[in-house]
Amino acid sequence: MTTHNPPSTRRPIVLLTGASAGLGSTIARTLAQTRRIGTIVLTARRIERLEQLERDLAILDPSLEIMTITADLADPDAPRRIARETLERTGGVDVLINNAGLGLPTLFADAAPAQLKDQLAVNLTAPLLLTRHLLPSLIERKGTIINIGSAITCIANSALGAYGATKAGLAYWNDALRRELMETGVKVCLVEPGPIHTEFMDALAVRLPKGGAPDPILNNARPWMTARVEDVAERVVRLIESPRRRVSYTRRFVWTFRVLGALTWLFPALGDWFVVKLSRGRGLNA
Ligand SMILES: NC(=O)c1ccc[n+]([C@@H]2O[C@H](COP(=O)([O-])OP(=O)(O)OC[C@H]3O[C@@H](n4cnc5c(N)ncnc54)[C@H](OP(=O)(O)O)[C@@H]3O)[C@@H](O)[C@H]2O)c1
Repeated sequence: MTTHNPPSTRRPIVLLTGASAGLGSTIARTLAQTRRIGTIVLTARRIERLEQLERDLAILDPSLEIMTITADLADPDAPRRIARETLERTGGVDVLINNAGLGLPTLFADAAPAQLKDQLAVNLTAPLLLTRHLLPSLIERKGTIINIGSAITCIANSALGAYGATKAGLAYWNDALRRELMETGVKVCLVEPGPIHTEFMDALAVRLPKGGAPDPILNNARPWMTARVEDVAERVVRLIESPRRRVSYTRRFVWTFRVLGALTWLFPALGDWFVVKLSRGRGLNA
């Protein structure tokens, strides 16, 4: 077995946020299946989910060292605490996967300021601070940072304004950090999935009008429009051995939105009309 990072003699230590559900728990399982990592540190709020995952991973790779840290990333002190506990228990980190994230079950105008603050903290502030706290270790080990963004940044969606802003901010920082760290040997990768059917979608689906037809994406009524969580997780895991600047999981949906994004840039008035109509048509912007 050959690995780019770290040397093949030592199996990497991975810290994964948002490990209790959806993409995060699937990334953890996929990593364990490879049997190529030495230690995984799992963090999220729901302890019982993390404990179940710990048991599952121990079966998939009995030699894997598994640690859990419960933390609410909306707490301003959480990134520092997670970094400190991780370094104390493992001695260093080779791979940081900033995966935790949330959408809001309301439009921007209906969201409580506290909800917006928490969303910004979890989706944007926490990845930056966690990375900053772990940077000396990541540089020393010529490690890898993987940020989970979103294809939503292709087009400003009136139904997901605050969420899209956090992911656009994450993408900007990701690219800037990659350039800043270019000569350190640290790899910085951005993953921008299109829709994946996870609890994330279930949380947004509460915004749909009651009794309406199933939504093609939020209710997974047209599975060809959503990516399989296992496929996205596999792409994320592949980045550890084969880092890439930017990866998106390309269902037809993502490409449609890329083209629409370019058109709205060229024809802004038409773009505003179309995006609002699309969201209202799905009951999301009423
Ligand atoms: N699903 C999609 O369609 C989609 C598309 C593009 C990008 N993404 C991105 O992919 C990533 C994973 O999403 P997913 O679909 O797997 O969502 P999910 O199933 O809802 O899982 C979200 C994870 O984030 C954690 N999390 C949420 N709030 C947290 C908080 N305050 N503190 C600590 N952890 C918190 C949750 O853990 P606890 O609740 O246990 O804390 C959970 O493990 C997110 O960054 C999301 O933005 C998702």
